[in-house]
Amino acid sequence: MRIYIDSANIKDIEKVMNILPVDGVTTNPSLLAREKTNPMEQLKAIRGMLCKGQELHAQVISSLAEDMIIEAQHMREVLGEDIFIKVPVTPEGIKAMKKLSALGVNITATAIYTPMQAVIAAKAGAKWTAPYVNRLDMIGADGVQVAISIHNMLTRMPASSELLAASFKNVEQILKLAEAGAGAVTVAPDLLEQLLYHPLTDKAVWDFTADFESITAKGSTMREL
Ligand code: E4P
Repeated sequence: MRIYIDSANIKDIEKVMNILPVDGVTTNPSLLAREKTNPMEQLKAIRGMLCKGQELHAQVISSLAEDMIIEAQHMREVLGEDIFIKVPVTPEGIKAMKKLSALGVNITATAIYTPMQAVIAAKAGAKWTAPYVNRLDMIGADGVQVAISIHNMLTRMPASSELLAASFKNVEQILKLAEAGAGAVTVAPDLLEQLLYHPLTDKAVWDFTADFESITAKGSTMREL
């Protein structure tokens, strides 16, 4: 399963990247607004932090298809042709996806709340489809189940689109998608840290170190032997 950092904060992205094996960064206009900087400059800075193979996803703001296409082309000029352009699954968004995919633009369909929206986006040429798991839970739906349903349908479709599940609030939601073989998740930095953390792991390491030092010296490692 591919894992993306869902953030536009340089420090948070850096902190996660230093530890976890991640496949890129996804942003949205709200995340960029939180940084209170020029959004394009912020995206350029994030872009500069990525290694080969790591993806940057950034969203168009325009509401009409023709404007989305022009905006997407400008973003590619500034941020690089390998950027993933996030396009919402509105009727105008689907129109834009059809044209952009024909031009070879990488598309992430976003703001997905139903499996059918994902199927249509996949047919329109989106490489990734992003349902909002926790936002679905918040309205009484089963976000994980919607994401699994999308994953199952996409794997049976000829279009080469995959699930990139978004909007998580707990580890359990991500675990269930990993178990279902989901293609990718994008997760906020604080929750990404939780994916690795367990207090008993820390205790086990502490106990091993104390036992080792009991027969050597405080602070010693294998290097001193
Ligand atoms: C995905 O495209 C969205 O940017 C994001 O994951 C939504 O997450 P939130 O529901 O925590 O805002």
